[in-house]
Amino acid sequence: MAKDVIIALDFENREKTLSFLDQFTGEKPFVKIGMELYYAEGPAIVREIKARGHRIFLDLKLHDIPNTVKKAMRVLSGLDVDMVNLHAAGATAMMTAALEGLTRPDGTRPLLIAVTQLTSTDQESMERDLLIREPMDEVVMHYAATAAAAGLDGVVCSPLEAGKVHGRCGGSFLTVTPGVRFADGDAGDQKRVTTPARARELGSDYIVVGRPITQAGDSVAAYRRCVKEFLGE
Ligand code: C5P
Repeated sequence: MAKDVIIALDFENREKTLSFLDQFTGEKPFVKIGMELYYAEGPAIVREIKARGHRIFLDLKLHDIPNTVKKAMRVLSGLDVDMVNLHAAGATAMMTAALEGLTRPDGTRPLLIAVTQLTSTDQESMERDLLIREPMDEVVMHYAATAAAAGLDGVVCSPLEAGKVHGRCGGSFLTVTPGVRFADGDAGDQKRVTTPARARELGSDYIVVGRPITQAGDSVAAYRRCVKEFLGE
C-alpha cells in the first residue's frame, strides 16, 4: 500500500503557495489544498499545481444533500485531483452519491476519505449541541465503519486511532492523519501529536504535515526528514 507524506498548503494566496513549491526542485510532494486557498484562488490553483506534477488532496469536506454532493464531486473529479473528502455525518446516501459523482467515464476516481467527528468537537459539545450521547471513541469508529460500508477509501483521524480504525474497517481502509510533529519541534495548537516514525508504527497510511514543513527554515530538508522518518528509509 502507498504510504506518503502530504504537505498541507495552508497559504492565503497563489503567490505564497507557488513560492513555497518553487523550493522543491528535486521532488514533487503530495500536497493538500484546503478551504482557505481554494476559496481564495478557485479551481485555477488546483489545475496549476496539478500541472506542476503534484498529487493533490483537495480538503473541502463536503456535506450537503446527496444530489448536490454528487454533482459537486463530479466537478472536483474533473479537476483531476487524487484525493477528496466529505463529512461522514452526511450519512450513507450522501457518501454513495459522492462516489457516483467522483467516478469518471473510464472508471477511475480520486480516493474518497471521510471526516468522522472534527477534532474541535469534544464529548461535551457533541452531547450538548449534537445530542449524540455515546462515547466519542465509539462515535468515531461507527462513522468510520459506516464510511467503509458505503465504499469509501478511508478516514481522516489521529495516528493514535489508526490501529483501531484498521482493526474495525480492515487493513486496506486508509488512515490519513494530521497532528504530526518532529520530536524536537513545536506542537503549536495541536494537542495530541506524534512523530512521523511513531505515526508509521501506529499504522498511518498518509501523514498530513503543515507547519513543521511550511514554517521550517529549510522546508525541503524538513520534508525530506519527514519522509525518511515516516517511510523508515
Ligand atoms: O500545521 P499542521 O501540521 O498542524 O497542519 C495540519 C493540517 O491538517 C491543517 O491543514 C489542518 O487543518 C489539518 N487537520 C488537522 N486536524 C484535523 C483535520 C485536519 O490538523 N483533525
